[in-house]
Amino acid sequence: MGTLRTCLCILIWVHGLIGGIESRRPWFPEPVPNVTVIVGNDALLTCVVQDLHSFKVAWVRVSTQTILSIHHQMVTENARITLSYNDHKTWFLHIRKVQETDRGWYMCQINTEPMTSQKGYLQVVVPPKVIEEESSIDLIVKEGSDMNLQCKAQGYPEPYIMWRREDGLDINYNGITVNVIDGEKLTIRKTSRLHMGSYLCVASNGVPPTKSKRINVTVHFPPMLMISNQLEGARNGVHSKLECHTEANPPSINYWTNERGDMIVSGTRFIDEKIRDGYVCKMILHIFNVSAEDFSSYRCVAVNALGETDGIIKLYEITTTVKSSSNEIVYEGENYKYSVNVTEVIDYLNGTTISATYDNFTSYVSSSPPLAHRHNIIMYILLLLLLSINVNLFNIIIV
Ligand SMILES: *[C@@H]1O[C@H](CO)[C@@H](O)[C@H](O)[C@H]1NC(C)=O
Ligand SMILES: *[C@@H]1O[C@H](CO)[C@@H](O)[C@H](O)[C@H]1NC(C)=O
Ligand SMILES: *[C@@H]1O[C@H](CO)[C@@H](O)[C@H](O)[C@H]1NC(C)=O
Ligand SMILES: *[C@@H]1O[C@H](CO)[C@@H](O)[C@H](O)[C@H]1NC(C)=O
Ligand SMILES: *[C@@H]1O[C@H](CO)[C@@H](O)[C@H](O)[C@H]1NC(C)=O
Ligand SMILES: *[C@@H]1O[C@H](CO)[C@@H](O)[C@H](O)[C@H]1NC(C)=O
Repeated sequence: MGTLRTCLCILIWVHGLIGGIESRRPWFPEPVPNVTVIVGNDALLTCVVQDLHSFKVAWVRVSTQTILSIHHQMVTENARITLSYNDHKTWFLHIRKVQETDRGWYMCQINTEPMTSQKGYLQVVVPPKVIEEESSIDLIVKEGSDMNLQCKAQGYPEPYIMWRREDGLDINYNGITVNVIDGEKLTIRKTSRLHMGSYLCVASNGVPPTKSKRINVTVHFPPMLMISNQLEGARNGVHSKLECHTEANPPSINYWTNERGDMIVSGTRFIDEKIRDGYVCKMILHIFNVSAEDFSSYRCVAVNALGETDGIIKLYEITTTVKSSSNEIVYEGENYKYSVNVTEVIDYLNGTTISATYDNFTSYVSSSPPLAHRHNIIMYILLLLLLSINVNLFNIIIV
């Protein structure tokens, strides 16, 4: 009875011993977390081991099958990689100033038989960077021709590229109005002067900071000229302004000439004013104290390397003008006609009557029928008489 009990006890102890050894095999209570770092920063890979006992932990670079560390020893000669551990439980692999080549799987191994291991992924991301050599530089394009911009960028993950105007204005993109255009290439057909401006190619891949490159686009076109009033009226003595609106790029040389073709230079009586805003130039010729010799034609001229254009403005004198000259019959008697010619002079500018002259005129007409008329009647009677005589003669002959 006693021996049986003892035997049972030994069995239980042996079983317990075996079970204990079994449960003391090293194991991982948690996975090696995946780590994402921006290139240049430091990375930390963590491996937690339970019940290590006399077993040893090694870090292995999976892609190259390189052993980085075994237990407390560094094996790799890469000085950026170091090891630290905490109580033989938590094993840290430090990688300083991470490079893109460090991207990959890292394995935490325990030298059990068979080997126990688990791995974690080190993701190395790279912020976008515009590749200057493969991207467009500032551009000059002739109006009407095509504009081609290109921008290339690198980074990890591969950046995507979009284009927009630096001033945020919409872009007429081959007929559609857009604010941004995706892709490495920006092609605009039949460029117009409105396409002029600074463009930004923006490269982003979710890794800060986003990068952009500015490309200035200049559109060249020959001068164009618009005149809203080709006829300008002025009174003697006033200050008159003649205006021409021009557009040209590169900016034009703008000047005025008189009727004889001489260039007008600013002086006391004439001032040649130019208001420039980008490729737009408003030309204003001021004429002070307009006098008789100023009423003539003026030519505004715009010239740049691509061409020349001009326009003519005629300055005429505003005088008071005769508005109406009516011939009113006031009364028509038996032998006279009384008429009044009313001549009104009205102001051309504001329509008020300045003066009205009444030109009364009476014409007398003879009360008896005119002599010619009377003479005709006599002739008529004579003819009738003659005819009746002829008819009678004829009748006589027949009979
Ligand atoms: C690490 O990433 C891989 C895929 O890249 C995934 O299968 C694994 O579950 C991740 N591990 C952790 C701990 O998130
Ligand atoms: C591009 O345009 C911007 C804004 O118009 C200007 O400030 C900048 O100087 C230009 N750059 C070059 C290189 O012309
Ligand atoms: C304007 O011009 C006239 C002659 O053209 C001259 O007699 C007059 O003094 C001038 N007036 C002013 C204010 O210059
Ligand atoms: C009145 O007007 C008519 C027509 O315009 C013209 O023939 C006539 O001579 C004028 N009379 C006077 C007195 O001016
Ligand atoms: C119209 O013009 C005339 C001459 O310039 C001026 O004497 C008159 O005061 C003006 N009348 C009005 C209503 O502006
Ligand atoms: C001409 O007739 C108008 C209107 O009938 C009158 O007011 C004016 O006094 C007359 N003028 C002369 C010179 O008879």
